[in-house]
Amino acid sequence: MANSYLEDLFGLQGQVAVVIGGTGVLGGALAEGLGGAGAKVVVAGGNQQRGKACVKRIVDAGGQALFLSVDVSQRQSIEELLAAALKQCGQVDMLVNCAGVNSASSYVDASDADWQRVIDINLTGTHWGCQIFGAHMAAHGGGSILNIGSVTSHLPLSRVFAYSASKAAVVSLTQNVAREFAPDGVRVNALCPGFFPAEQNRAILDETRTASIMSQTPMARFGEPEELIGATLLLLSKKAGSFITGAAYYVDGGFTAMRF
Ligand SMILES: NC(=O)c1ccc[n+]([C@@H]2O[C@H](COP(=O)([O-])OP(=O)(O)OC[C@H]3O[C@@H](n4cnc5c(N)ncnc54)[C@H](O)[C@@H]3O)[C@@H](O)[C@H]2O)c1
Repeated sequence: MANSYLEDLFGLQGQVAVVIGGTGVLGGALAEGLGGAGAKVVVAGGNQQRGKACVKRIVDAGGQALFLSVDVSQRQSIEELLAAALKQCGQVDMLVNCAGVNSASSYVDASDADWQRVIDINLTGTHWGCQIFGAHMAAHGGGSILNIGSVTSHLPLSRVFAYSASKAAVVSLTQNVAREFAPDGVRVNALCPGFFPAEQNRAILDETRTASIMSQTPMARFGEPEELIGATLLLLSKKAGSFITGAAYYVDGGFTAMRF
């Protein structure tokens, strides 16, 4: 950062951020943003090729990053990720829980397997990330966690029943864990994006649904992943975000503000 005032407020020099789901479209953009603000970034996920491509983008831009694999549907895998991040980086100051999956169908056709997969990855994986990394941060002087909700944390969306339930629960979990860890200097917030075309929602954003979303979005467009970086830096940075915990911050072109 060129401006020292902004660097003091938002800069992440000397800190380590683990971005679970940094292999994805939004997680990759957040990882690049954190790297650009000076953090050493652990890009974590299941897709090594995408993870390493994200690492390369951060390093090419002058930052520091490495890839570590993790499967958030396995508690032990998240424990191993923390251990590996500590071994490679010596410390972990920030965690972004950005792994996620989606599934769409009519309610009566929603299969148990799909329901369980979405809840396991979106909710239980986020819970394990908070519990495992949060306990470490609490025991080592504090830190900051950012969970990824959605506009459907606030309003249920049609055809994505498990997804809507999982993201509403992510905000409830965020608030509850924020209270739990506040005495130990660990802040926990949720970033709730509107609609950003990515892998997990490509099949869901058909023409009809896109038209409906646009009609309910005052800015009448999809978001660009980079448009999530400013709010991410605010919520994660020690100084700019120092009194923010338990918050759910919507970056959605006005979708959740819209009422007919
Ligand atoms: N794109 C949007 O419009 C939007 C809106 C609101 C919230 N979100 C949320 O943002 C997050 C990122 O999604 P995205 O849109 O970038 O989608 P994406 O599909 O590009 O990224 C999701 C990432 O999660 C990873 N992942 C899935 N299962 C995993 C597992 N078991 N272990 C580890 N990693 C796993 C995937 O490999 C992928 O890299 C998700 O939580 C999603 O629900 C997205």
